[in-house]
Amino acid sequence: MTTILQARNLTKRYQPGMTGVDALRGVSLDIQEGEFVALMGPSGSGKSTLLQLLGGLDQPSSGDVMLAGQPISRLSEDQATRLRRSETGFVFQFFNLIPLLDVCENIGLPFRIAGQNPNKGELKTRIADVIELVDLKGKERHKPDQLSAGEQQRVAVARALVTRPAILFADEPTGNLDYHTGLELLDALWASCHDRGQTVVLVTHDSKAAAYADRVLVMNDGRIHDQIVLGRRATHETGPLIARLAQLGL
Ligand SMILES: Nc1ncnc2c1ncn2[C@@H]1O[C@H](COP(=O)(O)OP(=O)(O)OP(=O)(O)O)[C@@H](O)[C@H]1O
Ligand SMILES: [Mg+2]
Repeated sequence: MTTILQARNLTKRYQPGMTGVDALRGVSLDIQEGEFVALMGPSGSGKSTLLQLLGGLDQPSSGDVMLAGQPISRLSEDQATRLRRSETGFVFQFFNLIPLLDVCENIGLPFRIAGQNPNKGELKTRIADVIELVDLKGKERHKPDQLSAGEQQRVAVARALVTRPAILFADEPTGNLDYHTGLELLDALWASCHDRGQTVVLVTHDSKAAAYADRVLVMNDGRIHDQIVLGRRATHETGPLIARLAQLGL
């Protein structure tokens, strides 16, 4: 097994005014290549903060993050941006698609940003490939307002995966979706992980979503409070996770 992501003693103190907020109070974790890990925990427990530090979107107050063998928490902003672009993909609650661009163009955006032409050769094939993965074949020329919410979020997933990142981070990606479209989105994340070996870190409130994971880290008050190992299961049944959460009093 290869460790793709490692955090050691992460703390994060936000200083919005006179009084600081300790969002993380010492988090350490190891995530292996190909794992599907969920982060759960009450609102304000530090899940989004942790995800941002793990993905190099923000710097810890103390502690270290190693991403794909590189100390992302210690790099300059430029170096961290480069590493983030090559090794991470992010999906957020709000889809952040560009309204004027169609599905193919939105997915090809990371290539454009890197100064590459997404309409040719290998990159074009990669775009077709992720469109198939998230089950959007036939919708290539649709603009975001011509897609359902679930389809829009799957475009966001495809865009995050098209650069073949070492890790896909998703923060409440089903937060704006109804039950059924939420499951379709989770199935797409699952396919990327189970069929392609994509490492996925998913923040969610929802035990139905967390039940797709191999392992659930439960956060509370800026710390990892518990770990629930579910193992790889194709059924994603929620029973075992809910039983463990209940045992933990959550
Ligand atoms: N930019 C910021 N400035 C100041 N405080 C912040 C900032 N971002 C987060 N916090 C605080 O840090 C703590 C952790 O926030 P975080 O967003 O990580 O929680 P969360 O577990 O993702 O919550 P939710 O489930 O509501 O999304 C909270 O007390 C929050 O108010
Ligand atoms: Mg959050």
